[in-house]
Amino acid sequence: MISPATIQQIQNRIDIIDVVGSFVKLKKRGTNYLGLCPFHNEKTPSFTVSPNKEIYKCFGCGKSGNTISFVMEHEKYSYVEALRWLANRYNIEVEETAQSAEVREQQQLADSLYILNQFAQKYFTHTLFDSEEGQTVGLSYLEERGFSKAILEKFQVGYCKETRQAFVTEALAKQYNRELLLKSGLVSLRNEDLVDNYRGRIIFPVHNTTGKVIGFGARIIRKNDKAPKYINTPENEIYVKSRILYGMYFARQVIDKQDECLLVEGYTDVISLHQAGIENVVASGGTSLTTEQIRLVRKYTNNLTIIYDGDSAGIKAALRGLDMALEEGLHVKLVLIPDKEDPDSYVNKVGADTFRNFVAENKKDFVLFQLEVALKDAGNDSQKKAAAVNQIAETLARINKAEDFTRQQDYIRQCASLLKIEEEGLNNLVNKFIRERVSKLEAKWNPADDNLPATDQEQAVPTTDESLQLLLKDELQERAAVRVLIEYGAMDWEDGRKVAPYMLEELDEEMVSNPDLFRVIQVYRNWVQAGIEPNAKNFFYHEDQTLSAIVVSLLAFPYEISTKWKDKFRMAVAAREEVYLQDIKNTIAYLKLRKIKKMIEENQADLLKEHTADEQVTLLQTHQALKQMERDLLKEYGTVIVR
Ligand code: CTP
Ligand code: MN
Repeated sequence: MISPATIQQIQNRIDIIDVVGSFVKLKKRGTNYLGLCPFHNEKTPSFTVSPNKEIYKCFGCGKSGNTISFVMEHEKYSYVEALRWLANRYNIEVEETAQSAEVREQQQLADSLYILNQFAQKYFTHTLFDSEEGQTVGLSYLEERGFSKAILEKFQVGYCKETRQAFVTEALAKQYNRELLLKSGLVSLRNEDLVDNYRGRIIFPVHNTTGKVIGFGARIIRKNDKAPKYINTPENEIYVKSRILYGMYFARQVIDKQDECLLVEGYTDVISLHQAGIENVVASGGTSLTTEQIRLVRKYTNNLTIIYDGDSAGIKAALRGLDMALEEGLHVKLVLIPDKEDPDSYVNKVGADTFRNFVAENKKDFVLFQLEVALKDAGNDSQKKAAAVNQIAETLARINKAEDFTRQQDYIRQCASLLKIEEEGLNNLVNKFIRERVSKLEAKWNPADDNLPATDQEQAVPTTDESLQLLLKDELQERAAVRVLIEYGAMDWEDGRKVAPYMLEELDEEMVSNPDLFRVIQVYRNWVQAGIEPNAKNFFYHEDQTLSAIVVSLLAFPYEISTKWKDKFRMAVAAREEVYLQDIKNTIAYLKLRKIKKMIEENQADLLKEHTADEQVTLLQTHQALKQMERDLLKEYGTVIVR
C-alpha cells in the first residue's frame, strides 16, 4: 500500500491542467479549459476541465472524473498504478505503509504462487521442447494439429511427463513446500504421496493482464473416458476464474487498436487464431460471462464478437450472461461456425482470409439472433410467439442508458419487423417493462410504499416520468446534503460551531437512504474522528474510486443543472457561498421532513392494529407530536420547500 503521506504529497502537487493537458490539447475558456474528448470521437470540443474543482467532464459522452481517474481511464491503470505514475511525474518518492499481518501473509502467498507457477511453466515448456518424451508425445501431437513451434513458444505451452513424480521431485528439490504445491493445483495427494496432477498432458499456462502465470489448463492427449479432457487450476489467491479471460495478455493491445474483442471457447481456438494472425481474441473456457469479465473487455472496447461452434453447449452458457452485457452498454455480435467445426479447426481448414470474411459476413446482432432462435422454436405456436415477444421486450428494456436511446429505438424497429408486429405496440411493451423496473427500484428506495394497498393495478404502477421525478427529487436532496457537507464542512455554523459537526449529527441512516451517499458521509465522519478536515480532494484520492466518482458527480459544473430543476423543485441548486447557511438549512429541513413523514406513516399503520387504551393514547400523542414537528419545520422553511 502507498502511505497516506505519499498520497497527500501527490495530492498537493497535482495540477489537473498539466496532467490532462499532456494528453489533450486544452484551450482556456473563462475559468475552465476546453478540448477534444480523448474518450470518444468528436470534431467540436466538449471536454471541459475545471482547474478550481480539479475535475473534468465531457458534455459529449458524459465521462467525468478527477486527475487520478483520468490517468486510470486514459492509461488503463489501476488506482495504485495511477498513483505511481503521478508520483513519478512529480518526482515524489513513494513510501509504502506497513501492512497488517493478514494482508502481508496473503500477499506473500500470492507472490509465492507466482514464483512457483513461473518455475512450473519453464519446467513444462522445457519438457515439451527438450525432452525425449515431450518431443515424441507432446510436440508431435501439437504439430500434427498444425501448431508452429513459434506460436507454442509465444503462449509458453508445455508438457507434463507420464512419470508419477517428475515435476514434484524437481519442485521439492527447489524448496517449494507441500502446502504451496497443493494450493497451486500442480500436484495432488495420493495416499500421503505428492504426485504430479497433470501427468501426460499438454500444459496451457494462463496469464494475467500483466503477463504473469496465474494457473494452467492441462489437456489430455489420448482420448480417455475415465479422465477429464482438461484439468484446470483450482481457485486460489491468484487464480479467480470469474475474472480471467484466457489470452487477454496477448490480445489486449490489438483489441484496443481494432476496437473489437473476439470471444471463443477454448485454449486451442485462441492459439490457432493467433497463429493465423487474428490476435484480438480471448477465451472464456465455455462458461457464461461474468460481470468482471465483461468489465475487463470494456476496458479495451465496447464491441464483443462471440465466435462459437454451431452446436456447442457453450452457446447457451454464453448467451446467459449477455442481458447483463447489454446493461453495461456492450455491443454484442455472434458468429456460429458451421459443420461441427470450432474456430480452431475451421481456421486450420479454410485459412485466415476465408475465416475473416466468414466472421465479417455472418456476424449477427446478439439481440436479433436471440429473437430468431426463439421464433424458430415457436413455429406456429402463438403462445410461444407471445412469450418470445415478451422476452425480447424485457431484454430491450435493459438498454436504459440515455446515450443508448437511439440504439434501443433501432432494435425496436428491427425486432418489430422480424416479429411482424406494429412498432408502436412493441415500443409500448418495452416501456411497460421499463416502468416495472423503475417502480421496483422505487419500492426499494422507499420501503414505506410497500405497505400501500394496491387497489388499482394501473394506479399502483406510476408512469416512468413520474417515478423518475420522484426518485430524482429525493436523490437530489440527498446529494445536495452530501455536497454541502463536503463543500462547507470547514466553514462556520451557528453557536461557534463548524458546519461539519452540525451536519454529521443530523445526517443519520434514516435521513439518507441512498447507501452510496451514506457511505460518503460515513467516510467523512471517520476522517473527522481521526482529526482530518476532509475536502473533495480527500475523496478524489480515496482508494475506492467509486466513492471518488460519486463525489466528482456531486461537484457538478455550474451549467450542468438546468434551470428547469430549480423552477420545479424550488431548491437552492446553485450553492453560492453567500447563501451556504440557507442552503444547508433547506437541505436538512427537507430530509427531516421526509423522515417525519415516514414516521407519521408508520405510526398511523401502527394505530390501525389492535391496542390497549393506554397504547392507543401513546400512539395518538406521538402522532400529534410528529405533526407538530412537521408544522414547525414547514413554518420555518415552508417558503422554500414545496412538497
Ligand atoms: N474445458 C474445460 N474442461 C473440460 C472441457 C473443456 O475447462 N473438461 C474448457 C477449456 O477451456 C476448453 C474449452 O472449455 O479449452 C472448450 O472445450 P473443448 O471445445 O472441448 O476443447 P478445445 O479447447 O476445443 O480442445 P480441443 O480443440 O483440443 O478439442
Ligand atoms: Mn477444439
